[in-house]
Amino acid sequence: MAHLLLVHGPNLNLLGTREPQVYGRTTLAEINRQMEQAAGQAGHTLSHFQSNHEGAIVDWVQQHAPEAAYLMINPGALTHTSVAIRDAILAVGIPAIEVHLSNVHRREPFRRHSYLADICVGQVVGFGAHSYQLALQAVCHLLQQDSPASSPS
Ligand code: DQA
Repeated sequence: MAHLLLVHGPNLNLLGTREPQVYGRTTLAEINRQMEQAAGQAGHTLSHFQSNHEGAIVDWVQQHAPEAAYLMINPGALTHTSVAIRDAILAVGIPAIEVHLSNVHRREPFRRHSYLADICVGQVVGFGAHSYQLALQAVCHLLQQDSPASSPS
């Protein structure tokens, strides 16, 4: 059993009503509930956090990373600007998966650059709310690979 972290950046509190043609109609509360449920079914626990403030995200990651095995993070617009979130992930040394609802590579050019992508294990983009479930599947797979029971003796 592992503890997992899920972080959502600015404006993701408005999911459900925010540009539904881009981000869909699933609310953040629904995403968090589905993720808690799926993590629980896989035998893991999950804590989630959303903030519109970069420093609050840095604080939360610093505070919670020591008890956790993986971080799933959708930094929202901070993806494209935040050296501070990048540095926080590096500082605490937690393996991270970057998640986006939209396919950032087929939108405005400024969304193609991520300050996190090269320090993350991987990225899941473009599948709407399902991107989060896919990230969780990847984490569960990695945890299985990491577990001593699965290593050759
Ligand atoms: C987003 C993509 C970002 O470019 C944007 O600023 C968001 C949402 C996504 O999930 O598709 O806020 O992270």
